[in-house]
Amino acid sequence: MPANRWTRYALPTALVLLAVSGCAFDGPRSTLDPVAYVAREQMELFTFTFQLSLFVMAIVVGVLAYALIRYRHAGKKELPNQTHGSVPLEVTWTLIPVIIVVLIAVPTVRTIFETEQRVEPTSEDLIVNVRGYQWWWAFEYPEYGIVTANELHVPRGRRVVLNLTSMDVLHSFWVPKLAGKRDLIPNQDNQLWFTTDEDTPTGIYLGHCAELCLGAHAYMRMRVMVDEPQEFEGWVESFQDEGAQQVQASGTLDVGGVTGSVDEGRVLFGQKGCAGCHTIEGYYPGVTIGDPDFPNLTNFGQRTTIAAGVLENTPENLARWLRDPQEVKPTNYMPTLWSEDDPLREEQIADLVAYLLSLGADGEEQAQASVVGGN
Ligand code: CUA
Repeated sequence: MPANRWTRYALPTALVLLAVSGCAFDGPRSTLDPVAYVAREQMELFTFTFQLSLFVMAIVVGVLAYALIRYRHAGKKELPNQTHGSVPLEVTWTLIPVIIVVLIAVPTVRTIFETEQRVEPTSEDLIVNVRGYQWWWAFEYPEYGIVTANELHVPRGRRVVLNLTSMDVLHSFWVPKLAGKRDLIPNQDNQLWFTTDEDTPTGIYLGHCAELCLGAHAYMRMRVMVDEPQEFEGWVESFQDEGAQQVQASGTLDVGGVTGSVDEGRVLFGQKGCAGCHTIEGYYPGVTIGDPDFPNLTNFGQRTTIAAGVLENTPENLARWLRDPQEVKPTNYMPTLWSEDDPLREEQIADLVAYLLSLGADGEEQAQASVVGGN
């Protein structure tokens, strides 16, 4: 066999192998590794449909191969039997597809009604109002009076009902391991729910905005933290005591070699105008600062990421973000607060970083939880 016979197949084969090798069936954003009710039902439906398709393909390819070999041209001159207009054949190949369609339709419709229906939330459910913004997520827990951003904590074992709406353009809430996608639409209330149980590993589940929302769409990420109920209670409590949030509001932090002062940072948070947009509960006890249309930074020190999941929440990364938000996340609405030749820039950034990371006691634990399925 000449060598070019083989080289002809080399490129397509290499491409197929490359594509398959890129598949991680249990990666952090895999729909094929569901851990909660809704995502599991969807996976079951997919598996059934896929297996049925494989079965159909095997039969079709088998019959085709048989016909190609058995009835290949072998020098015979006469026409084979003509079956045009055969009623039994026509009926058979009409009925088989009808049966296949019914086999797929019944579980599909059942799954849709079980998982896609709006549910009437009860007091047992955890209700979260989710607002989509260019390019971050606001999470509001009416039951607890908590407002936070980009990182959604839920207790394991409780049904979570999300009320979804958008404050600007279309977004889509998608945490593949927990549930399917649902759009966030301005002036419309959509709902998405899912239920975790004892088979759901606790930890961090990665999600992403799944609707092109211009600018930094690719950087509009989110995290769902599935906590043990006790851990979740601790998280809730950390929001309910305004004094506790400011308890670490003193001391210093090394930020890439510059010493930041928590107290100085707290003052700068007001002076540099941060408090005009960002709410921090307890900043002035009893007084609300900020604007609900910008990320609420209460207990910010507990967050694992900044800029809606773009960077890990470390002193160096937070300094990088404050220094030049556009460099980290192009088109976002965070202003650049210092000119490059501002002599106070690095010192003030270090102070703000020290202050922001001091917010919220017990931040360590949260930061150390790991992403389910790897990073
Ligand atoms: Cu929000 Cu894409």
